Amino acid sequence: MRVVSGIQPTGNLHLGNYLGAIRNWVRLQDEVTAGGGESLFFLADLHALSQPHVPAELTASTYEMVAALVACGIDPERSILFNQAQVPAHAELQWLLSGTARMGWLNRMTQWKDKSGKNREGQSAALFTYPVLQAADVLLYQATHVPVGEDQKQHLELARDIAQKFNHDFGGGPNGGGTDIFVLPDPIVPADAARIMSLRDGSAKMSKSDPSDMSRINLTDDADTIMQKVRKAKSDAEPLPADPADLANRAEAANLVTIHAALAGQTTAEVLAQFAGQGFGAFKPALGELLVAKLAPINARFVELRRDTAALDAILRAGAERARALAAPTLARTYAALGLVR
Ligand code: TYM
Repeated sequence: MRVVSGIQPTGNLHLGNYLGAIRNWVRLQDEVTAGGGESLFFLADLHALSQPHVPAELTASTYEMVAALVACGIDPERSILFNQAQVPAHAELQWLLSGTARMGWLNRMTQWKDKSGKNREGQSAALFTYPVLQAADVLLYQATHVPVGEDQKQHLELARDIAQKFNHDFGGGPNGGGTDIFVLPDPIVPADAARIMSLRDGSAKMSKSDPSDMSRINLTDDADTIMQKVRKAKSDAEPLPADPADLANRAEAANLVTIHAALAGQTTAEVLAQFAGQGFGAFKPALGELLVAKLAPINARFVELRRDTAALDAILRAGAERARALAAPTLARTYAALGLVR
C-alpha cells in the first residue's frame, strides 16, 4: 500500500479539508505503518501558482500548513511530509505526461469550469493544466491509494486515464515496451464527510477561496470565533427531524448535522435521535461546543509548532530528500519509455 495525497498551502486548513481529507490521511498513515507500506503527504505549492498569489503569503502559508498537518497527527517520522517545490520530479513528470493528456479531458474538469467561469481566456495556462500536475503527483510514487474529498475525485479519474493511456502507448500495451510504467491509483473518499459545505450557503463547498471567513471554520480559530461562526451559520426555522431523509431539501441543516456526526463519530441518524424536535437554538450551541472540544487540542499544538520555523524547514527538507529518492526510479523509467536520451 502506498498512500499519496496533497493540499494547497493557500489560506488556512479548514474543517472541510480536515473532515474530508486530513483525518483520512492520519488513519491511513497508521494503517500503512502497521502494514509496512509508505505514506507521502505534500503541500501542493506548485499548484498555488495557478491562481494570482502574493509570494510572501505563499511562504507564510507553507509554514502554517506544515505546522497544521503535524498538529492534526501527521508524523514526519512515519510519513514523508514535503512540499512539491523541493522535489523537481513533480514538474518534470508533468511535462512528460503533457504529451499524453488530451485537451478534451482537461476541458471537462468541473474545477476548471467553475474557477474559470466566463473568463476562460484570461486564466493562467497553469489553471488549465493543473490536473496533469496532480496526475504527476500521484503517478510519480506509484500511489495505490489517494485519500481526498469528493471534489477531487474527478482529478483522480483523470490521473487514471493518463496512466492508462501512457501505459498503453509507451508501457505494457500493444505499442509499448512490454511493462506498465504506472500503477492506477484508487481514490479513498470518506463516507461520512466527503463534502462539507459553506456555513453561509449550503449549496457551495466550504473553501479557503470563499471571501467570507464566516463561511468556514479554520483549524486555527479560537473558541470564541468558533462559537460565533456556528451561531451565525445559516440554518432554518424548522425543528430537526427524526428521519435523515427529511433533511433532503434543507441543505444548511443537513450540513450542520453532517459536521456534528463526523466530529462525534456518529451517523446522522444517531445525531437526529438525540436532537429530533429541537430547533437550532439548542443544536447550535451543542455543535459549537463539540467543535471547540475537538479542535482546541489541534489548535494548541499548531500554535506551539508554528513558533519554530527552523524546525518546520528541517521537516520539509528531510521529507523532500526521501521523496526525491522514491521518485527517481519512476521518473527515469518514464524518460526511457519516451525514448529520451539522458
Ligand atoms: P485542496 O487544497 O483544495 O483540498 C485538500 C483536501 O481537502 C478536501 N476538501 C474537502 N473535503 C470535503 N469538504 C470540503 N468542503 C473540502 N474542501 C477541500 C479536498 O478534496 C482535498 O482532498 N488539487 C488538490 C491538491 C492536490 C492533490 C494532489 C490531492 C494536488 N495534488 C494529488 C491529491 C493528490 C486541492 O486543491 O485540494
